[in-house]
Amino acid sequence: MPPKRSSLIVFNWKENPRTSKEAIRLAVAVSRAMRSAGKDGPEIVICPPVLYLGALSEKMISRAESRCSLGVQNIFWENNGAYTGEIGPAMVRAAHGNVRYAIVGHSERRRFLGETDEMIRKKILASLAAGLRVILCVGEPVEVRKKGTRAAMQYVKNQLKKDLQSVDSRLRGNDRIIIAYEPIWAIGTGKNCPPEDAREMAAFIKKEAHGARVLYGGSVNGANVARYICYDEVSGVLVGGASLHAEEIKKIIKANI
Ligand code: PGA
Repeated sequence: MPPKRSSLIVFNWKENPRTSKEAIRLAVAVSRAMRSAGKDGPEIVICPPVLYLGALSEKMISRAESRCSLGVQNIFWENNGAYTGEIGPAMVRAAHGNVRYAIVGHSERRRFLGETDEMIRKKILASLAAGLRVILCVGEPVEVRKKGTRAAMQYVKNQLKKDLQSVDSRLRGNDRIIIAYEPIWAIGTGKNCPPEDAREMAAFIKKEAHGARVLYGGSVNGANVARYICYDEVSGVLVGGASLHAEEIKKIIKANI
């Protein structure tokens, strides 16, 4: 078997931190940890609130290693027009060259903003067309998990089928789309998915999504990250809460060397 590629770590800051000064402080922590990891370090994507992209893009990321890029936590499916409050992929690309990724379909957006699979599908297509890589989040709620692994697999399979419908299959497996398996009951709860279950789901998703890289997300921190990334099927992690703490950032990056 070929050696495992370096991991991909996505830091999803959600609606945090409160100021751009604090955002820069966290980004400095990331770039310091990247420097000490050296060339064997992981690939990093920081997804801050869009308001901070400019500051991070100019002050930090341009000086950091090329293995570190930025992403948006959400994107719209039209590139411009009368869509109050929205930002499209072409606009993001034109404004900030080092914004290379878009998180699409996060369960918090599905839940709080009523995002449907059809909206997600359109967001994926628009992002790919504009040259953004997509991190598509999927994962089952607790009621489904209680019914067992087969039920969880069926739930996720259904999400993938709808979200990736009409997405050119040649784009999948080609790093343009990465799937994050994030069981909803594990997000922000401190209840980790048992690593062996995450591995099993990642293997299943990889098969369903034409060989795409699969990340695990849900209460990942410096103490447990190694238990996920040790598997070949898990290509990295998506980290929320822990990515807001410099010490955790350091431990997570170090564990991925
Ligand atoms: P968490 O969030 O690490 O705080 O559980 C993960 C996510 O929502 O992407």
